[in-house]
Amino acid sequence: MPEPDAPFSASLLQEGLDTRFVGKTAHYYPLLTSTQDAAREAALGGATEGETFLADEQRAGRGRLGRTWRAPARCGVLLSVLLRPSSIVYPKLFMVASLAVVDAISKVTGLPSAIKWPNDVLLRGKKVAGALVEGEFAGEAPLFAIVGIGVNVNMAPGDFSDLLYPATSLSIELGAPVSREAVARELLRSLEQWYLAAQAGSQVHDSWRAHLSLLGERVTVRSGEEVLSGLAEDVDSEGRLLLRLDNGALVPLVAGDVTLQV
Ligand code: BTN
Repeated sequence: MPEPDAPFSASLLQEGLDTRFVGKTAHYYPLLTSTQDAAREAALGGATEGETFLADEQRAGRGRLGRTWRAPARCGVLLSVLLRPSSIVYPKLFMVASLAVVDAISKVTGLPSAIKWPNDVLLRGKKVAGALVEGEFAGEAPLFAIVGIGVNVNMAPGDFSDLLYPATSLSIELGAPVSREAVARELLRSLEQWYLAAQAGSQVHDSWRAHLSLLGERVTVRSGEEVLSGLAEDVDSEGRLLLRLDNGALVPLVAGDVTLQV
């Protein structure tokens, strides 16, 4: 394994990468504004499906809900994959992305992770990875999608001091440094498998639901200015969270930030 603070090795990534198209062309940058921007620009320029953009550091990494995604240089996997999904598959991409992360973590570290609705990935209750799906549309039809994934791989506990939520890294949980190239390779492999499964109409939704951590728990959901509390009863076929309010109403939520009520 390379030294923990070595630059990401795109050639090491390619070793044993047996995908059909995801990651077959991978562009690596030491520093970018965001891998999402690099992928989007390439997509607009006609890049092919599966092209992947990786960085060791981002100046303006983006998270869901307009948040910033911060990671110290050379500690994480920061990548974006260009996909050209149908309008049926597009809404499932957040499930595809989180399942890919769960599988990659399990393959590389042997650790079981869980999905916090909609697509945060947790290890022992702390956030270890997140995914962001951005798209370009012609009317209702997706022209392309950019699936961005950030995984905390070799961060130390002090690297998370300014975050609002508890976070961790693979190396903290494993007690040893982890190869970023191995994590990226497994991510790309799993992403392709789940994407192909979604295209084939397989039960991506059921697998995603089976990994959700908060179903059956009392939670608080923040969505913009709105804060709702209730029982996280289930998710529907479109992946919306079904929140049972104390007045008995069942509210389907499309987006938000869920925390366990204490
Ligand atoms: C979230 O948890 O809110 C989603 C985080 C997604 C972060 C990744 S890092 C690689 C890609 N580039 C970005 O700017 N964001 C995604």
